[in-house]
Amino acid sequence: MQQEFKIGSFTAKELIEKFGSPLYVYDENTIRTRYRELKESIETIENKKILYACKANSNVEIIKVLKEEGAGMDVVAPGEVYTCLKAGVSNEEILFTGNNMTNEELDYAVKEGVILNIGDLSTLERYGEKYPNTSVCVRINPDVGGGHHHHVITGGVESKFGIYFTDVPEILKISEKYNVIIKGIHQHIGSNILDENTFLSAVDVLLKSAKELPDLDFIDFGGGLGIPYEPGEKRLNLIELNKKVAANFKNFCQEYGKEVEFWIEPGRFLVGESGYLLTTVNTVKSNPSYKYAGTDSGFNHLVRPTMYGSYHEIVNTSNLNGDHEKVTICGNICESGDIFARDRVLPIINEGDILAILNAGAYGYTMASNYNTRPLPAEVLVNGDQVRLIRRRETFEELLRNQIFGS
Ligand SMILES: Cc1ncc(COP(=O)(O)O)c(C=O)c1O
Repeated sequence: MQQEFKIGSFTAKELIEKFGSPLYVYDENTIRTRYRELKESIETIENKKILYACKANSNVEIIKVLKEEGAGMDVVAPGEVYTCLKAGVSNEEILFTGNNMTNEELDYAVKEGVILNIGDLSTLERYGEKYPNTSVCVRINPDVGGGHHHHVITGGVESKFGIYFTDVPEILKISEKYNVIIKGIHQHIGSNILDENTFLSAVDVLLKSAKELPDLDFIDFGGGLGIPYEPGEKRLNLIELNKKVAANFKNFCQEYGKEVEFWIEPGRFLVGESGYLLTTVNTVKSNPSYKYAGTDSGFNHLVRPTMYGSYHEIVNTSNLNGDHEKVTICGNICESGDIFARDRVLPIINEGDILAILNAGAYGYTMASNYNTRPLPAEVLVNGDQVRLIRRRETFEELLRNQIFGS
């Protein structure tokens, strides 16, 4: 029987009383533990770098925790470059994997001295014209993809990402034309992948493409490492997976004749399980088919259930061991799709109860919005018996900060 639900030393009630509701809470220990597990799983590889894909959670204080552990950063937009630089990450530790990059974005990346990762031949051409005699990384689409939902599969012909692996000769032509050295090759095939074989197939294709590029300093195998969201879901066996990946990589280096660096760039794996969205139930009601528990949060704060149909475990922290019943947990947004969980079996929920939505550390706050003109929640970081506010709750005034009022 579970006595109390705690994050570090704190109950959900203590956190809500101190910081208000709803509230994002992150457990620093979980983030550090995941980083160390991952590092250990690739310990046999000498030259390696773990980048944190900060699109998963770009709070500066989270970035700082991972930087402290030794991570570089994978970023996908200029705002993420800016955020990482503000967090004190050195420009040489930032890989900017752009998307439909504008010239201004290319200029910004070059000005800040971050490593550019280019995923289209036309952008590579445009980059070469502007910045000849430099070096970049290229993103390959290895024709292998995976992930928890088709929106997040980023390999294969259905995906907009990367330069198709069959186009490596075209990369070489542009590289020669402008003397742009291809110093890195990259792939990222999707998100929340729990199938080892999907990773291994993509690794094979990337390594074949890498053999065709003569000047590589590093190979980035991307992110996508899955985490278990549903009870009983199997964890990825990182040690086994990375044993195989490392063996392939070492063979490659031998044949290539150079010890290139091994890079990976997970996001979700490092932060997903560290996060909780605490939300208070303020309305309980029933109709002939369902009992609803209405909360003070919604898909404006955690969109994954609505957008992807994702499962998040939910704990009624105010009633851990009572009788169970089926309940549909919904948000306060004016849309019927604003459901965190449909017909979930949980200990009876009463108004005033605090629910913890688990595994909300990745793609939670970073995908949140002001829909319904509701402010974003606060974020706090727990470290054992210490807790600190790492982002204030948004105010009504801040909701209108860019508004230009007419006369
Ligand atoms: C380029 C790139 N790298 C890494 C990641 C991180 O993915 P994940 O959080 O699944 O590890 C993403 C996310 O989709 C991405 O777009």
